[in-house]
Amino acid sequence: MMSKKLFASSARLLIRSSSTLHSKAAPAMMSQPASEMPECNHRPAAYNGPSYEQILATRKNHLTPNLVSHFKKPLVIHAGHMQWLYDHEGRRYLDMFGGIVTVSVGHCHPKVNQALTDQISRLWHTTNIYMHPKIHEYAERLTAKFPGNLKAVCFVNSGSEANDMAMLMARLHTGNQDILTFRNAYHGMSPYTMGLTAHSTWRYPLPGINNGIVHVMNPDPYQGIWGGAACRDSPVQTTHSCNCTPGSCEAGNAYYNELEQTFKYSLPRGKVAAMFAESIQGVGGTVQYPKGYLKRAADLVRANGGLFVADEVQTGFGRTGDHFWGFEGHDYTPDIVTMAKGIGNGFPLAAVVTTPEIAATLGLALHFNTYGGNPMASAVGISVLDIIEEEQLQRNSLEVGTYFLKCLEELQKRYELIGDVRGKGLMIGVELVNDRETRAPLAAPHMLDIWETCKDLGVLFGRGGLHGNVLRIKPPMCINRADAKFAVDVLGCAIANTLAKQK
Ligand SMILES: Cc1ncc(COP(=O)(O)O)c(C=O)c1O
Repeated sequence: MMSKKLFASSARLLIRSSSTLHSKAAPAMMSQPASEMPECNHRPAAYNGPSYEQILATRKNHLTPNLVSHFKKPLVIHAGHMQWLYDHEGRRYLDMFGGIVTVSVGHCHPKVNQALTDQISRLWHTTNIYMHPKIHEYAERLTAKFPGNLKAVCFVNSGSEANDMAMLMARLHTGNQDILTFRNAYHGMSPYTMGLTAHSTWRYPLPGINNGIVHVMNPDPYQGIWGGAACRDSPVQTTHSCNCTPGSCEAGNAYYNELEQTFKYSLPRGKVAAMFAESIQGVGGTVQYPKGYLKRAADLVRANGGLFVADEVQTGFGRTGDHFWGFEGHDYTPDIVTMAKGIGNGFPLAAVVTTPEIAATLGLALHFNTYGGNPMASAVGISVLDIIEEEQLQRNSLEVGTYFLKCLEELQKRYELIGDVRGKGLMIGVELVNDRETRAPLAAPHMLDIWETCKDLGVLFGRGGLHGNVLRIKPPMCINRADAKFAVDVLGCAIANTLAKQK
């Protein structure tokens, strides 16, 4: 239940918000957002697939129960165009989740479509036993995006596979076994990577999952025990105070000391294989670490014989705005980088990039991946890189993302249940809480009500965090300010509606 305290202040805020958020003559209970859904000229073909009921029945009877359906009445999405999705009844939605941070340049982007069509009519597949040109062209293009000696790439098909490969390389290269990850990390669902993932909700009770894996304290400046108003690399900070000074983050130091304790007490001295870190945690709810922390952690891992692996599955390809790779914002160069999702705009494509020395370990035995870097995947990958450059999508992420974050910060001033707004570029999180002081998660029924109303008003947000109380905003990077404003107006309206119902 929503706490009495929050409810009282929220009710006050509702009165204020209903006059400020609604320029149109709004009914007593807010029901419409302040701005209209932006126009889109695209007209999708009419839906002519199976009936809604048939789809529901097939899903229930023939697909495995691990499939999660969003919303009380799950959507049937049959068409997409750039930042827009269309359901079977012709409704249009602004997609703020991009197929879970995957549609980087836009749904059915015409240039990606063209690249794929050209490749499909020429050659689909050979495996890499023959030297088809595309994988070579793509390897040149992708590795050129990396600093230092990160020049060897291994193509695979999913983020889990990429992290599996990085674990394998790190263990073979160092001869060590132990791998560290953060609590609240998500690195995949294969049996190997499930151990890296540190959420009870994402773990099957199987023996051996945690073999050689140590989960360390998450350096989270909002929910963690240390952190305040100057710790994050974000246009929006937490509402807690802190005594950090430029160049020295108290929270970062405290979390780093914690990490050192793990090395002192839980690991074989000088003998670790690796540490993995998402550059910003994705599934965990867009959690950012204190500035400077990852760089020091990487040094500590290396001093203990290990490699540092940057998981860029969500943060790569310009999404964070200021840099092409999320790790660059932390001012360090990893030993291995894993990537998926945005790399292929929805095509099953993923990769591991490392140094030639580390990659050499794969020569110790045969290793084979049937589809990795196949001609279609490579053609898509090249065209995604072209589009990010041609359409300046990294810059767009920065500009629209910063505007988005600032609008959300304004909304936070109106609604106490917005406990935290964070992120950078178009990698944004909005944490909804029951109580700003305790930071307890907003009760699930309220959270779901807000989320559902956003959908009804035409905006699809993701959810994340252990309690599912963080709205995840990671749209295709082609969105504009009008889209961002509409999404924020819709969220404000949905919050006001939920509060009004409680009154
Ligand atoms: C940071 C991160 N790493 C790895 C993965 C696993 O990727 P996949 O689902 O393609 O196996 C995900 C998926 O959400 C992710 O967010």
